[in-house]
Amino acid sequence: MSRLLVTGGAGFIGSNFVHHVIEHTDHHVTVLDKLTYAGNRASLAGLPDDRFAFVQGDIADAALVDELFAQTDAVVHYAAESHNDNSLHDPRPFLDTNIVGTYTLLEAARRHGTRLASHLHRRGLRRPRTGRPKPVHRADPVQPVVAVLVDQGRL
Ligand SMILES: NC(=O)c1ccc[n+]([C@@H]2O[C@H](COP(=O)([O-])OP(=O)(O)OC[C@H]3O[C@@H](n4cnc5c(N)ncnc54)[C@H](O)[C@@H]3O)[C@@H](O)[C@H]2O)c1
Repeated sequence: MSRLLVTGGAGFIGSNFVHHVIEHTDHHVTVLDKLTYAGNRASLAGLPDDRFAFVQGDIADAALVDELFAQTDAVVHYAAESHNDNSLHDPRPFLDTNIVGTYTLLEAARRHGTRLASHLHRRGLRRPRTGRPKPVHRADPVQPVVAVLVDQGRL
């Protein structure tokens, strides 16, 4: 059994990933999520207490991140300001979370020697030539990379 830390685990992709891990592995999962407008604690309801913990907090909080990394074998990073249109009105949260927050996680990974997988890119959901959504397929070499790593026992 590994101990996974999932940032942004109350968001759209993160919450589905957490349910997938709990269902298909014996890993323990801790979610670190700030619960912004995009996070929904209810999407993590019903997970077993002995394999799941929730920490409400900010990925840019270096002390909290350090404490959690000390108890973690691997980190999967989904926390983000992902609603890009909001940055036109207020870019600051995007800098704080997507840049400073991600940097904080990378520094902690380096200090602790922790494996970290990130899903911050948008590649794979749209075909550049047609603009049509691309269906997610488990055999796809790009999508969903992290779920495949879990299934292969590499996370
Ligand atoms: N949804 C997609 O189609 C898609 C496609 C490709 C890549 N991505 C990327 O995957 C990642 C996750 O996407 P999503 O759709 O699940 O996003 P989301 O907006 O649904 O969830 C983001 C989560 O991060 C949390 N969060 C925000 N700031 C935080 C902070 N400072 N500290 C801790 N938690 C914080 C929010 O509360 C929320 O639960 C994003 O980086 C996104 O750009 C998304």
